[in-house]
Amino acid sequence: MELKITCIPGDGIGPEIVTEAKKVLNKVAQLYGHKMNFTDILMGGASIDACGVPLTDEAIATAKAADAVLMGSIGGNTTTSPWYKLPPNLRPEAGLLKIRKALNLFANLRPAVLYEELSGACPLKEEISSKGFDMLIMRELTGGLYFGERKTIEENGVLKAIDTLTYDENEIRRIAIKGFDVAMKRRKKVTSVDKANVLDSSRLWRKVVEEVAKDYPEVTLEHMLVDNCAMQLVKDPAQFDVILTENMFGDILSDEASMVTGSIGMLSSASLNDTKFGLYEPSHGSAPDIAGMDIANPIATILSASMMLRFSFDLDKEADAIDAAVKQVLQDGFRTGDIMSEGCTKVGCSKMGDLITERIK
Ligand code: IPM
Ligand code: MG
Repeated sequence: MELKITCIPGDGIGPEIVTEAKKVLNKVAQLYGHKMNFTDILMGGASIDACGVPLTDEAIATAKAADAVLMGSIGGNTTTSPWYKLPPNLRPEAGLLKIRKALNLFANLRPAVLYEELSGACPLKEEISSKGFDMLIMRELTGGLYFGERKTIEENGVLKAIDTLTYDENEIRRIAIKGFDVAMKRRKKVTSVDKANVLDSSRLWRKVVEEVAKDYPEVTLEHMLVDNCAMQLVKDPAQFDVILTENMFGDILSDEASMVTGSIGMLSSASLNDTKFGLYEPSHGSAPDIAGMDIANPIATILSASMMLRFSFDLDKEADAIDAAVKQVLQDGFRTGDIMSEGCTKVGCSKMGDLITERIK
């Protein structure tokens, strides 16, 4: 099969980790008889430097013309980088928000799994981590505070900033359906997270989620307030299967969920629309402090490439091959610095990519 993939290397460690994911994909293509067609586009700081804006219309068109997009990471150091002296709509992150909206990528899937091999890196007490966990955060990605009206005004000499959190029932329904659909393929439990004791948007969220749940009698639904969820994630992460939540809560909870797995460097993500098209990226950021040093962990991006094969191309065998190679490399004791533990062999970014590529069967 011919796979048309647009790549966004981006900023910081982005180019390094995308290079490793391409290595792995090329090996898969060679072994399984596919043709990978990669086209790179600029986004974030790299695009600001070259084109003056974080994402051009041509870049969006190139992404749209592909079957899927594989992304590294974007952005720089928010206190020192000149990109953050620009108006907010011209900063690196604006490119990411723009592509999510332009491609209608409303469903963001962020799995957080505790790998047995990495349980030592889990910061939780052993009595908690020994139970293991495997959850998937289904985060709404094109609504809420991120895309509501915002402005900063001056009233009687006092500066005032306003961000609005808006959801309509259709936006909630379509992400809830995605959440229940994916739960059907997992352990059939949805925890819908909101702040319904305070926010109107959350009360509507709860109502619509309950309506959708009626179509999934096999799935157990529970509601949880976001502050409680933040606590439960460290107290008893094993209780979660699918966490269904709005944009901002999902942003925060997914960082927390990833950290309890031991390393944010391990977590992949998929951002999907209503078709097979998707944008795949690691859950972590661009780590500008270690950019270009060949020490970043490419595994989250490699696992994102695996999600891409699974969700956008229905290539389950190939995706399994990548997941198995990652597991194997961990079993063989190789670690990047972020997941290093005693008795293991420390390797850099490109070496880790090579080791995984060698293990693709
Ligand atoms: C993420 C990131 C982005 C977000 C930033 C870079 C705009 O934190 O993908 O989680 O907040 O969505
Ligand atoms: Mg985030």
